[in-house]
Amino acid sequence: MGGGPRYHAAMDPKPLTQIAIYGAAGRMGQAIIAAASAMPEMMVAAAMVRAQSNWLEQPVAGLSDGRGEPLLYASALDPDLAVQVLIDFSAGAAFDNALAIAVQRRLAFVSGTTGLDPGQLHALQQAAKHIPLLWSANFSLGVALLQRLVTTAARSLGPEFVAEIVDAHHQQKTDAPSGTALVLGRAIAAARGDTFDLVAKRGRDGQIGARPPAEIGFSSIRGGDIVGEHTVLFIAPGERIELCHRAYSRDLFARGALRAAQWLCGQPAGRYRMEDLIAD
Ligand SMILES: NC(=O)c1ccc[n+]([C@@H]2O[C@H](COP(=O)([O-])OP(=O)(O)OC[C@H]3O[C@@H](n4cnc5c(N)ncnc54)[C@H](OP(=O)(O)O)[C@@H]3O)[C@@H](O)[C@H]2O)c1
Repeated sequence: MGGGPRYHAAMDPKPLTQIAIYGAAGRMGQAIIAAASAMPEMMVAAAMVRAQSNWLEQPVAGLSDGRGEPLLYASALDPDLAVQVLIDFSAGAAFDNALAIAVQRRLAFVSGTTGLDPGQLHALQQAAKHIPLLWSANFSLGVALLQRLVTTAARSLGPEFVAEIVDAHHQQKTDAPSGTALVLGRAIAAARGDTFDLVAKRGRDGQIGARPPAEIGFSSIRGGDIVGEHTVLFIAPGERIELCHRAYSRDLFARGALRAAQWLCGQPAGRYRMEDLIAD
């Protein structure tokens, strides 16, 4: 891609969504930059990395800053930059800062960072009073549909169908079970009227006794370059239902996050879900 002002409004009459990416040097950050570069209606206005990053002040391949200069990786968001949405795919330790920037600058906030603690989830709720935000453990529209199907199955099947959730991811993933597995488990607990924390069973080892029927069991596979797979099993004597989603490429999460960013720009303050995009 050339270094010129590729996103100038006169060249593209579609409304432009100007985004800042937090965690830009990461796998997802790079996938989002690549996906956004192929979408004329998106402009990567800022690519943020840590202050100690080797990428700091290096050019973002193929992108200009709209003034004909190469866009550089930065550790802070330029206060004069016109940005509508902050997209965060970083790490639990970095999330608080990303959210604080979005609230302070009154930006729409899209985040896919997983492994958040209860305090961070509470902070999201508080921030939603001021800005539109969409946090999702999984930006695949297929997974949003899986969540719906799982809810329907949990409501429809009797208590003789016990629920187990298996997630498989690449070996660099640091949190387990995956954020998506937990979201699916919460959906099952909610559909059954159970308190998630009382029925969730994370891993089994040793003399654990018979399985309580209400338990929702989690197992995690880690290895190689598996992008992300989730299987929800409903198991009864003599039969079993398996609902499975497989992600083959990180690009689908990047495209989903960008679609969420575009959609979120037109929304009032509040907390939104990927399912809200499906309903549209
Ligand atoms: N919701 C979804 O659909 C979805 C899909 C895939 C991944 N994820 C989640 O998204 C997150 C990122 O995944 P990834 O695969 O892109 O991980 P990654 O390759 O490890 O990238 C994470 C990025 O965050 C940066 N970072 C880490 N700690 C930081 C800190 N304290 N301050 C500032 N920046 C920091 C890292 O910077 P350095 O490069 O300097 O270390 C890195 O660039 C994870 O939580 C993952 O589980 C979500």
